[in-house]
Amino acid sequence: MNLKQLVGIEAATYVKDGMTVGLGTGSTAYYMVEEIGRRVKEEGLQITGVTTSNATQEQALALGIPLKSIDEVTHVDLTIDGADEISANFQGIKGGGAALLFEKIVATYSDKVIWIVDESKMVEHLGAFPLPVEVIPYGSDQLMRKFNEKGLNPVLRTNEQGDIVKTDSQNYIIDLKLGKIKNPTELAHYLTNQVGVVEHGLFLDMVNTVIIGRTEGVETLN
Ligand code: 5RP
Repeated sequence: MNLKQLVGIEAATYVKDGMTVGLGTGSTAYYMVEEIGRRVKEEGLQITGVTTSNATQEQALALGIPLKSIDEVTHVDLTIDGADEISANFQGIKGGGAALLFEKIVATYSDKVIWIVDESKMVEHLGAFPLPVEVIPYGSDQLMRKFNEKGLNPVLRTNEQGDIVKTDSQNYIIDLKLGKIKNPTELAHYLTNQVGVVEHGLFLDMVNTVIIGRTEGVETLN
């Protein structure tokens, strides 16, 4: 079993009957969704899932997990999601899979958030992983110019064919190659205030529990 599978299966044990569960996105969250699907089918687990991307929605539907949209539920009991980087003080970067907008919305309305990662994602300081920023296509060249002038090293995300990546909301992603983010709160504030920015991948003070897959076993931090 690989480390992503290990933490995915471990996180699924936090899911109980009757819960509304936010289902994250990415290659680690994939295993958690698979395990919840298995429990629904084999153990009769009764939950309502709220997905964070079209990809997770397709997976959950195929597994027979009952779903509602974020606007059809009063709250989410628990959200389980992956992350691209987690710092020593539990701040995170997300959006490597371009799903940061829905992920942040679902996390915002969740009573509890668990991140599941392999040990490579645990860092001292955020920023080695390029920070994803979701922007409206209209005016995105202007934002690129502005970020460049501010020294944020922006790169418009493209796929292997060189086409611009579009999010589930048909927006673009600008990745900021920062190296080290000295003040995540200040940067988050700056980005939130730029016209045309829909959301950024800094998830600050949003997680309760981190489940880390290490070669020697699972470590859970609260
Ligand atoms: C998607 C995300 C993912 O949770 C993050 O990129 C981690 O993905 P993976 O588990 O595949 O490494 O934020 O937008």
